[in-house]
Amino acid sequence: MKLLDGKAVSKEILKKVKADIDQHIEKKHLGYNLSRPSIAIVMVGENAASESYVRGKIKACDKAEINHKVIRFEESISTFELISEIKKLNKSHFDGFIVQLPLPDHIDPNSIINEISAYKDIDGFHPLNFGKMALGQKSMRPATAYGILKLLQHYDIQTNSQHVVVIGRSNIVGKPISIMLGNDFEVGRSTVTSCDIHTPKALLKEESRKADIVIVAVGKPGFLTSDMIKEGAVVIDVGINRLDSGKLVGDCDFEDVSQKASYLTPVPGGVGPMTIAGLILNTYEAWKMKNL
Ligand code: GUN
Repeated sequence: MKLLDGKAVSKEILKKVKADIDQHIEKKHLGYNLSRPSIAIVMVGENAASESYVRGKIKACDKAEINHKVIRFEESISTFELISEIKKLNKSHFDGFIVQLPLPDHIDPNSIINEISAYKDIDGFHPLNFGKMALGQKSMRPATAYGILKLLQHYDIQTNSQHVVVIGRSNIVGKPISIMLGNDFEVGRSTVTSCDIHTPKALLKEESRKADIVIVAVGKPGFLTSDMIKEGAVVIDVGINRLDSGKLVGDCDFEDVSQKASYLTPVPGGVGPMTIAGLILNTYEAWKMKNL
Protein backbone atom coordinates (compact mmCIF):
# COMPACT_ATOMS: atom_id res chain seq x y z
CA MET A 1 0.00 0.00 0.00
CA LYS A 2 1.25 3.45 -0.91
CA LEU A 3 0.33 6.52 1.11
CA LEU A 4 -1.03 9.49 -0.83
CA ASP A 5 0.99 12.27 0.72
CA GLY A 6 -1.36 15.25 0.61
CA LYS A 7 1.01 17.30 2.74
CA ALA A 8 3.83 17.02 0.21
CA VAL A 9 1.59 17.54 -2.84
CA SER A 10 -0.04 20.58 -1.23
CA LYS A 11 3.38 22.05 -0.49
CA GLU A 12 4.33 21.65 -4.14
CA ILE A 13 1.10 23.35 -5.30
CA LEU A 14 1.63 26.29 -2.92
CA LYS A 15 5.18 26.71 -4.18
CA LYS A 16 3.98 26.73 -7.78
CA VAL A 17 1.17 29.24 -7.04
CA LYS A 18 3.65 31.54 -5.28
CA ALA A 19 6.03 31.34 -8.24
CA ASP A 20 3.20 32.04 -10.72
CA ILE A 21 2.06 35.08 -8.70
CA ASP A 22 5.68 36.32 -8.48
CA GLN A 23 5.99 36.03 -12.23
CA HIS A 24 2.79 38.00 -12.93
CA ILE A 25 3.87 40.71 -10.50
CA GLU A 26 7.34 40.92 -12.00
CA LYS A 27 5.94 41.22 -15.52
CA LYS A 28 3.37 43.80 -14.36
CA HIS A 29 0.10 44.01 -16.21
CA LEU A 30 -0.43 46.75 -18.79
CA GLY A 31 2.42 48.54 -17.01
CA TYR A 32 0.60 48.64 -13.64
CA ASN A 33 2.02 47.37 -10.38
CA LEU A 34 -0.07 44.47 -9.13
CA SER A 35 -0.67 43.81 -5.42
CA ARG A 36 -0.31 40.29 -4.16
CA PRO A 37 -3.62 38.41 -3.64
CA SER A 38 -5.40 39.07 -0.40
CA ILE A 39 -8.22 37.14 1.24
CA ALA A 40 -10.45 37.40 4.29
CA ILE A 41 -11.56 34.54 6.51
CA VAL A 42 -14.81 35.15 8.40
CA MET A 43 -15.29 33.31 11.66
CA VAL A 44 -18.40 33.41 13.80
CA GLY A 45 -18.28 32.31 17.43
CA GLU A 46 -15.82 29.79 18.80
CA ASN A 47 -15.20 26.31 17.42
CA ALA A 48 -12.01 24.37 18.19
CA ALA A 49 -12.00 22.44 14.88
CA SER A 50 -12.55 25.64 12.86
CA GLU A 51 -9.70 27.36 14.73
CA SER A 52 -7.39 24.52 13.73
CA TYR A 53 -8.53 24.52 10.06
CA VAL A 54 -8.13 28.29 9.86
CA ARG A 55 -4.61 28.09 11.30
CA GLY A 56 -3.80 25.69 8.44
CA LYS A 57 -5.29 28.09 5.88
CA ILE A 58 -3.27 31.02 7.29
CA LYS A 59 -0.04 29.00 7.17
CA ALA A 60 -0.71 28.13 3.53
CA CYS A 61 -1.38 31.79 2.67
CA ASP A 62 1.92 32.72 4.30
CA LYS A 63 3.74 30.10 2.21
CA ALA A 64 2.22 31.37 -1.04
CA GLU A 65 2.64 34.99 0.14
CA ILE A 66 -1.07 35.67 -0.02
CA ASN A 67 -2.21 38.43 2.33
CA HIS A 68 -4.92 37.40 4.76
CA LYS A 69 -7.14 38.81 7.44
CA VAL A 70 -9.29 36.88 9.90
CA ILE A 71 -12.52 38.75 10.68
CA ARG A 72 -14.29 37.52 13.81
CA PHE A 73 -17.88 38.03 14.89
CA GLU A 74 -19.66 37.19 18.12
CA GLU A 75 -21.68 33.97 18.23
CA SER A 76 -24.78 36.15 18.81
CA ILE A 77 -24.55 38.02 15.47
CA SER A 78 -27.86 37.97 13.60
CA THR A 79 -28.30 36.65 10.06
CA PHE A 80 -29.16 40.19 8.94
CA GLU A 81 -25.98 41.66 10.47
CA LEU A 82 -23.79 38.91 9.03
CA ILE A 83 -25.31 39.42 5.57
CA SER A 84 -24.52 43.15 5.75
CA GLU A 85 -20.89 42.27 6.64
CA ILE A 86 -20.77 39.90 3.64
CA LYS A 87 -22.06 42.69 1.41
CA LYS A 88 -19.22 44.91 2.62
CA LEU A 89 -16.69 42.19 1.83
CA ASN A 90 -18.17 41.79 -1.66
CA LYS A 91 -17.24 45.42 -2.32
CA SER A 92 -13.90 45.36 -0.45
CA HIS A 93 -10.35 45.18 -1.82
CA PHE A 94 -10.13 41.46 -0.94
CA ASP A 95 -9.78 39.20 -3.98
CA GLY A 96 -11.75 36.51 -2.21
CA PHE A 97 -13.12 35.43 1.14
CA ILE A 98 -14.62 32.48 2.95
CA VAL A 99 -17.08 32.12 5.77
CA GLN A 100 -15.77 29.29 7.90
CA LEU A 101 -18.44 26.64 8.59
CA PRO A 102 -20.18 25.54 10.73
CA LEU A 103 -22.09 28.67 11.68
CA PRO A 104 -24.09 28.94 14.91
CA ASP A 105 -27.40 27.06 14.79
CA HIS A 106 -29.52 30.21 14.47
CA ILE A 107 -27.89 31.10 11.11
CA ASP A 108 -28.82 29.16 7.99
CA PRO A 109 -25.50 28.73 6.14
CA ASN A 110 -27.27 28.84 2.76
CA SER A 111 -28.65 32.31 3.46
CA ILE A 112 -25.05 33.48 3.98
CA ILE A 113 -23.38 31.54 1.15
CA ASN A 114 -25.99 32.85 -1.31
CA GLU A 115 -24.93 36.44 -0.50
CA ILE A 116 -21.21 35.92 -1.28
CA SER A 117 -20.17 37.41 -4.61
CA ALA A 118 -19.54 34.46 -6.95
CA TYR A 119 -16.33 36.23 -8.05
CA LYS A 120 -14.98 36.23 -4.48
CA ASP A 121 -16.32 32.80 -3.51
CA ILE A 122 -12.99 30.98 -3.09
CA ASP A 123 -14.74 28.07 -1.34
CA GLY A 124 -16.75 27.41 -4.53
CA PHE A 125 -19.93 27.06 -2.46
CA HIS A 126 -22.11 29.76 -4.11
CA PRO A 127 -24.93 28.29 -6.26
CA LEU A 128 -23.56 30.03 -9.36
CA ASN A 129 -20.14 28.41 -8.97
CA PHE A 130 -21.67 25.09 -7.94
CA GLY A 131 -24.01 25.18 -10.94
CA LYS A 132 -21.19 26.03 -13.34
CA MET A 133 -19.08 23.25 -11.84
CA ALA A 134 -21.99 20.79 -12.31
CA LEU A 135 -22.32 21.87 -15.94
CA GLY A 136 -18.60 21.36 -16.47
CA GLN A 137 -17.96 25.08 -16.97
CA LYS A 138 -14.97 26.98 -15.63
CA SER A 139 -15.70 28.08 -12.07
CA MET A 140 -14.34 28.25 -8.58
CA ARG A 141 -14.56 24.63 -7.41
CA PRO A 142 -15.42 23.33 -3.96
CA ALA A 143 -11.96 23.15 -2.40
CA THR A 144 -11.94 19.62 -0.94
CA ALA A 145 -13.22 18.01 -4.14
CA TYR A 146 -10.75 20.05 -6.20
CA GLY A 147 -7.92 19.02 -3.85
CA ILE A 148 -8.82 15.32 -4.08
CA LEU A 149 -8.76 15.46 -7.88
CA LYS A 150 -5.38 17.22 -7.81
CA LEU A 151 -4.06 14.49 -5.49
CA LEU A 152 -5.24 11.69 -7.80
CA GLN A 153 -3.79 13.54 -10.76
CA HIS A 154 -0.43 13.99 -9.02
CA TYR A 155 -0.11 10.24 -8.42
CA ASP A 156 -1.26 9.47 -11.95
CA ILE A 157 -4.22 7.51 -10.63
CA GLN A 158 -6.62 6.94 -13.51
CA THR A 159 -10.21 8.01 -12.96
CA ASN A 160 -11.23 7.80 -16.60
CA SER A 161 -13.73 4.92 -17.01
CA GLN A 162 -13.09 3.85 -13.42
CA HIS A 163 -15.87 2.93 -11.02
CA VAL A 164 -15.84 5.31 -8.06
CA VAL A 165 -18.02 4.90 -5.00
CA VAL A 166 -18.49 8.09 -2.97
CA ILE A 167 -19.84 7.58 0.55
CA GLY A 168 -21.28 10.84 1.87
CA ARG A 169 -23.50 13.36 0.13
CA SER A 170 -22.67 16.67 1.82
CA ASN A 171 -22.79 19.90 -0.18
CA ILE A 172 -19.14 20.62 0.59
CA VAL A 173 -17.57 17.24 -0.20
CA GLY A 174 -19.69 14.23 -1.26
CA LYS A 175 -21.96 15.97 -3.77
CA PRO A 176 -19.28 18.05 -5.55
CA ILE A 177 -16.74 15.22 -5.80
CA SER A 178 -19.43 12.91 -7.26
CA ILE A 179 -20.34 15.54 -9.85
CA MET A 180 -16.75 16.50 -10.73
CA LEU A 181 -15.69 12.89 -11.22
CA GLY A 182 -18.71 12.29 -13.45
CA ASN A 183 -17.76 15.33 -15.51
CA ASP A 184 -14.79 15.49 -17.77
CA PHE A 185 -12.34 17.00 -15.28
CA GLU A 186 -8.63 17.07 -16.23
CA VAL A 187 -8.32 13.46 -15.03
CA GLY A 188 -11.18 12.04 -17.12
CA ARG A 189 -14.71 10.82 -16.52
CA SER A 190 -15.61 8.16 -13.99
CA THR A 191 -18.68 6.03 -13.39
CA VAL A 192 -19.84 7.25 -10.02
CA THR A 193 -22.08 5.61 -7.44
CA SER A 194 -23.21 7.97 -4.74
CA CYS A 195 -24.09 6.51 -1.33
CA ASP A 196 -24.48 7.81 2.20
CA ILE A 197 -25.19 6.58 5.70
CA HIS A 198 -28.83 6.03 4.71
CA THR A 199 -27.81 3.50 2.06
CA PRO A 200 -28.56 0.03 3.50
CA LYS A 201 -25.22 -1.37 4.72
CA ALA A 202 -25.52 -4.54 2.57
CA LEU A 203 -26.12 -2.47 -0.58
CA LEU A 204 -23.33 -0.06 0.31
CA LYS A 205 -20.91 -2.95 0.79
CA GLU A 206 -22.02 -4.60 -2.44
CA GLU A 207 -21.26 -1.36 -4.31
CA SER A 208 -18.06 -0.36 -2.50
CA ARG A 209 -16.56 -3.85 -3.01
CA LYS A 210 -16.84 -3.33 -6.79
CA ALA A 211 -15.20 0.11 -6.74
CA ASP A 212 -11.77 0.93 -8.16
CA ILE A 213 -11.76 4.07 -5.99
CA VAL A 214 -13.66 4.57 -2.73
CA ILE A 215 -14.05 8.09 -1.32
CA VAL A 216 -15.41 8.16 2.21
CA ALA A 217 -16.67 11.37 3.82
CA VAL A 218 -19.14 10.47 6.57
CA GLY A 219 -17.44 11.78 9.72
CA LYS A 220 -17.50 8.40 11.51
CA PRO A 221 -14.23 6.91 12.77
CA GLY A 222 -13.64 3.32 11.65
CA PHE A 223 -16.62 3.39 9.24
CA LEU A 224 -14.79 1.86 6.23
CA THR A 225 -13.30 -1.57 6.83
CA SER A 226 -11.35 -3.90 4.55
CA ASP A 227 -14.36 -6.17 3.91
CA MET A 228 -16.00 -3.18 2.18
CA ILE A 229 -13.33 -2.78 -0.53
CA LYS A 230 -11.79 -4.93 -3.23
CA GLU A 231 -8.13 -5.92 -3.27
CA GLY A 232 -6.04 -3.05 -4.67
CA ALA A 233 -8.71 -0.35 -4.37
CA VAL A 234 -7.67 3.29 -4.03
CA VAL A 235 -9.14 4.73 -0.82
CA ILE A 236 -9.55 8.45 -0.17
CA ASP A 237 -10.39 9.18 3.45
CA VAL A 238 -11.94 12.63 3.88
CA GLY A 239 -12.92 12.20 7.54
CA ILE A 240 -11.29 14.27 10.28
CA ASN A 241 -12.49 12.94 13.64
CA ARG A 242 -11.04 13.70 17.05
CA LEU A 243 -11.24 10.71 19.42
CA ASP A 244 -11.72 11.15 23.18
CA SER A 245 -8.02 10.33 23.53
CA GLY A 246 -7.26 13.44 21.45
CA LYS A 247 -6.02 11.37 18.48
CA LEU A 248 -7.05 12.57 15.02
CA VAL A 249 -8.45 9.80 12.77
CA GLY A 250 -10.31 9.54 9.48
CA ASP A 251 -13.37 7.50 8.49
CA CYS A 252 -11.31 4.36 7.71
CA ASP A 253 -10.08 1.67 10.00
CA PHE A 254 -6.58 2.60 8.83
CA GLU A 255 -4.67 -0.56 9.86
CA ASP A 256 -7.33 -2.86 8.41
CA VAL A 257 -7.90 -0.97 5.12
CA SER A 258 -4.16 -0.55 4.53
CA GLN A 259 -3.84 -4.37 4.27
CA LYS A 260 -5.99 -4.39 1.15
CA ALA A 261 -5.85 -0.95 -0.52
CA SER A 262 -3.26 -0.07 -3.18
CA TYR A 263 -3.27 3.64 -2.22
CA LEU A 264 -4.63 5.28 0.90
CA THR A 265 -4.69 8.84 2.25
CA PRO A 266 -3.42 9.22 5.82
CA VAL A 267 -5.25 11.32 8.44
CA PRO A 268 -3.79 13.80 9.16
CA GLY A 269 -1.67 14.64 6.11
CA GLY A 270 -3.92 13.40 3.29
CA VAL A 271 -7.06 15.24 2.15
CA GLY A 272 -6.81 18.03 4.77
CA PRO A 273 -3.78 19.77 3.21
CA MET A 274 -5.27 19.21 -0.26
CA THR A 275 -8.43 21.12 0.74
CA ILE A 276 -6.17 24.03 1.57
CA ALA A 277 -4.35 23.63 -1.75
CA GLY A 278 -7.78 23.81 -3.46
CA LEU A 279 -8.54 27.03 -1.61
CA ILE A 280 -5.20 28.55 -2.64
CA LEU A 281 -5.76 27.55 -6.28
CA ASN A 282 -9.20 29.21 -6.18
CA THR A 283 -7.64 32.32 -4.61
CA TYR A 284 -5.13 32.50 -7.45
CA GLU A 285 -7.99 32.16 -9.97
CA ALA A 286 -10.04 34.90 -8.24
CA TRP A 287 -7.00 37.21 -8.18
CA LYS A 288 -6.30 36.62 -11.88
CA MET A 289 -9.97 37.15 -12.75
CA LYS A 290 -9.94 40.53 -10.98
CA ASN A 291 -6.53 41.78 -12.06
CA LEU A 292 -5.38 40.23 -15.32
N1 GUN B 1 -15.65 23.81 7.35
C1 GUN B 1 -15.14 22.61 7.07
N2 GUN B 1 -14.61 22.59 5.83
C2 GUN B 1 -14.79 23.82 5.33
C3 GUN B 1 -14.43 24.43 4.08
O1 GUN B 1 -13.86 23.83 3.17
N3 GUN B 1 -14.78 25.74 3.95
C4 GUN B 1 -15.44 26.42 4.93
N4 GUN B 1 -15.76 27.68 4.69
N5 GUN B 1 -15.78 25.88 6.08
C5 GUN B 1 -15.45 24.59 6.27
